[in-house]
Amino acid sequence: MSGELFRDTGLPALLGGEPVRTAPLPVAYNGSGRLFGPQEEEAVRAVLRRGTLTRWGGTAVDALERAWAERLGVPHALAVSSGTASLHVALAALDLAPGSEVVTTPITDMGTIIAIVQANLVPVFADVAPETGMVTCETVEAAMTARTGAILPVHLFGRCADTAELRALADARGVYLVEDASQAHFSYDREGFAGTHGHISCFSLQQSKVVSCGEGGIVVAEGRFHERTELLQNKGWLRGRQGGRAYPMVGLNYRMPELSAAVALCQLGRATEIIARRRRSYAVVVEALKNEPGTVIATERPGERASWWALCVRWPELADEPELAAAVEKSLQADGVPFAPGYIGTSPLYLSAALQRRGAEGRHGLPWTLHPEPPVYRPGDCPHAERFLRESFVLNWNEGITPDDAADIARALLRALPAARAFTASAVPVGSRP
Ligand SMILES: Cc1ncc(COP(=O)(O)O)c(C=O)c1O
Repeated sequence: MSGELFRDTGLPALLGGEPVRTAPLPVAYNGSGRLFGPQEEEAVRAVLRRGTLTRWGGTAVDALERAWAERLGVPHALAVSSGTASLHVALAALDLAPGSEVVTTPITDMGTIIAIVQANLVPVFADVAPETGMVTCETVEAAMTARTGAILPVHLFGRCADTAELRALADARGVYLVEDASQAHFSYDREGFAGTHGHISCFSLQQSKVVSCGEGGIVVAEGRFHERTELLQNKGWLRGRQGGRAYPMVGLNYRMPELSAAVALCQLGRATEIIARRRRSYAVVVEALKNEPGTVIATERPGERASWWALCVRWPELADEPELAAAVEKSLQADGVPFAPGYIGTSPLYLSAALQRRGAEGRHGLPWTLHPEPPVYRPGDCPHAERFLRESFVLNWNEGITPDDAADIARALLRALPAARAFTASAVPVGSRP
């Protein structure tokens, strides 16, 4: 297939032509994008019939943990209530001095940052590689100081971050590596699976993720941290392991319920199919866009197999042309494909109101008050990240998107920039047009 097969000569919807797509696309949040079916229904019924909805006395959470660990080839996995909880537990388990710095990425879900802040650690942002939107050894090293306690990279959109190299860097500098593999379940490269290089690695099982149960998370911790993560998510209680009800530490209740685990376990059993479907449809868009001048679609490196959590298209010229970017967004919307500009919006998380205000009400400035010279987050701190978000459009990918749907998406993407250029060439500002 070549891009030409997807290029249509009709008038783009933005300029008054017919939309590429009128039927809604299957997206994760309207249910049609996910493969929840009779297996999940029966698994949930089975839990209800057993009558034990907590993991204590149940079987589903244990089974999910065993199956997840087996699939990744690691000794343990721990199920928790969300991806944010998995990251919070991971960071707390490191037992770093309060106010220590965690070097992370400005392009991630807020859950990554929330976990750092709630563990009383100070987020420090490393810039990203312009092509991938992910931190690298060079950018992380540039952001490290004597107060760095951990490095927290994110495997973005389903691709693999350089976590094997980052682990070597962490070991050389005597700090910890925590991987956020929420968006990259079972993605792998020549160094192995995403989520197998960290001292601790984390996954979200939220609605849009490859393996989902609506809300949930998984922690994969190296031996010495596994028991601490278990304790931390179970109110500090090693239930069933010690006589009596001993509380060796103050923990949280981040336990995964049986009903969620029953669904996640079925999804995990179908992960190969889910990933294959995502990859098949994603490949249609890559094929259509790969030679398109001025357009960059996220693709795999040699040896990499991405599970594709999201499709990210970049038009580098948009970074300096906000009016043109607004018209591209309008064109995509008019053609019925719901891409969002940027990913977490078009500015990085260090410019979010929460971080500009150093937390929120109720935290009294913690964790920044624990730091002798707390970082100030300013526009321009991570120029590549800021540019990456201004030039990108992202669509949550999922297994419900068929190759035909993907062909519509490709058509709309191929139209968007020329349509936006024609649209902005006339003098009327975008906001004042229909
Ligand atoms: C990279 C990343 N980190 C953390 C999270 C937080 O996960 P959750 O929404 O399950 O708390 C998400 C997902 O939303 C994510 O994509």
